[in-house]
Amino acid sequence: MKVTSIISVLALGATTLASPKPIGNKHLPTTVIAGVEVVDTQIVRDAHALIKKFPDFLYWHSMRTWLLGAATINANKTLKAEVDLEAHALGTILHDLGWDMSENSPWVSKDRRFEVDGAIGAVNFIKAHKSYKPCTWTENRLERIFDGIALHGTFGIHPYKNIDTKWITSSVGFDGVNFTPTEVPIEKFDSIVAEFPKETFQKGAIDTFTWMCATKPNGTYNTFVEPFGTAYVPGYNATGKHSFDRITAGYTREQ
Ligand SMILES: *[C@@H]1O[C@H](CO)[C@@H](O)[C@H](O)[C@H]1NC(C)=O
Ligand SMILES: *[C@@H]1O[C@H](CO)[C@@H](O)[C@H](O)[C@H]1NC(C)=O
Ligand SMILES: *[C@@H]1O[C@H](CO)[C@@H](O)[C@H](O)[C@H]1NC(C)=O
Repeated sequence: MKVTSIISVLALGATTLASPKPIGNKHLPTTVIAGVEVVDTQIVRDAHALIKKFPDFLYWHSMRTWLLGAATINANKTLKAEVDLEAHALGTILHDLGWDMSENSPWVSKDRRFEVDGAIGAVNFIKAHKSYKPCTWTENRLERIFDGIALHGTFGIHPYKNIDTKWITSSVGFDGVNFTPTEVPIEKFDSIVAEFPKETFQKGAIDTFTWMCATKPNGTYNTFVEPFGTAYVPGYNATGKHSFDRITAGYTREQ
């Protein structure tokens, strides 16, 4: 092999490794769900099949999250070309694996906060998939998905992250309880909510947060889930569990 061709092979390898999106969005197969064009690869179909087994309120929430985000991204050509749409699909569809209240759930830990269970679960799901290749699902793509899920219960960080993490977390935010997002095109919002109804979501979310406080209190103290324990779980006691308590221990405020 000539020196020049070795150099060009090395250069090609470096370009491939540096790209967070080895598969260009325009080559991905798509389908339409509730009036929204979405990615239709086998791994996305299998993630969809996985969450379809969850209770309706959770399945519908996960679908709305994906579709509300995709509809908003699709409405902006620049954004649509820039976001890793397959990573966005998996990050949104799988973001609430940590809400699985079934006994012996493979996704739910005894002590971690639920967003981290979801993030670890999504990455494990991708790595265990028959189509998984480390060169396709680079550490960079996986970390963007991990962060997009892990940050969805924490305010103020994701807007300053990379575009993929930011859009996974933002899309989850589009489906808040008692909340209608202004960013999502209204006709798409209506078609999505018509197919995946939102009425049971408030009760489902409150039941799930309450269940977390009852079954894994260590994963709830000092997070937005904590007040559900204080309000609804007898014997739940967050006193002494706050960062404030540790930081102010032994401190007397000067007047
Ligand atoms: C579309 O997205 C790009 C990239 O995020 C952004 O800079 C631009 O302002 C958006 N355009 C509109 C009309 O929202
Ligand atoms: C919860 O946290 C306490 C204090 O850090 C620890 O002693 C306990 O083992 C933890 N329980 C679980 C189930 O992780
Ligand atoms: C809650 O925990 C704190 C700190 O461990 C303890 O002092 C307090 O007595 C507990 N409250 C109840 C109602 O058990």
